[in-house]
Amino acid sequence: MCSLSLYNKPDYWSVKAKKEGFPARSVYKLQEMDKKFGLFAGFAKGPEQSRRFKVLDLGAAPGSWSLYALRRGGPGIFVLGVDLAPLSSHAQGACFDEERCTFLQGDLTRREIQEAVLAQGPFNLVLCDAAPGTTGNPGIDALRSLVLAEAALEYADQGLLTGGNFVVKVFQGGDTPRLLQGIRNRFKTGRSFKPGACRSTSFETYYLGLTHLPPPALEA
Ligand SMILES: C[S@@+](CC[C@H](N)C(=O)[O-])C[C@H]1O[C@@H](n2cnc3c(N)ncnc32)[C@H](O)[C@@H]1O
Repeated sequence: MCSLSLYNKPDYWSVKAKKEGFPARSVYKLQEMDKKFGLFAGFAKGPEQSRRFKVLDLGAAPGSWSLYALRRGGPGIFVLGVDLAPLSSHAQGACFDEERCTFLQGDLTRREIQEAVLAQGPFNLVLCDAAPGTTGNPGIDALRSLVLAEAALEYADQGLLTGGNFVVKVFQGGDTPRLLQGIRNRFKTGRSFKPGACRSTSFETYYLGLTHLPPPALEA
């Protein structure tokens, strides 16, 4: 007898993603957050935007969020994706144009990857949809997810422009309230949001930091 796991069964969002040319259903999570919170705020507004709008996409494979950013932003955008895994061949094709998109394959928590990424900043938007391989133990999975989310916040600390936005996936459980507080300390608004396209069985949610604050002035 054939048993399809719940996650292998194509659902409404997976079918829609395929039809619209995205390799993963997760694109609709980003789209919903963008529509609700204006993640690309400041893009294509006036002469200031003769500067590229740069997006950092951590945990980018198979590439739906990078493709969304490329389509959303048009010619004036630059997307840097990072992942342990390669992009899908479709997303690789879109990223072939190095003027608008670059991909680094590696571990986002490693110092050398962080240095290579930051050298291409600063960024207007930092996204992190990275998720650890799950073990089935919710405590361990939440802890591993938190390590990735904290690393993403460090990228934002070092590479996000003042006024920029930040989105990070977290698995609920673990010390996520401390992470959210850390986001609230650095952004005008920090909040959590679970998009409709998240699977109802999933522990994941997203934390958003909207309008990055300037770094605190050093005391004399
Ligand atoms: C849910 S997928 C991201 C989907 C992507 N946003 C999209 O729309 O196509 C999570 C990704 O996180 C990546 N990941 C997990 N740990 C990572 C790490 N330490 N460094 C880089 N990528 C990592 C995985 O390889 C996986 O591709």
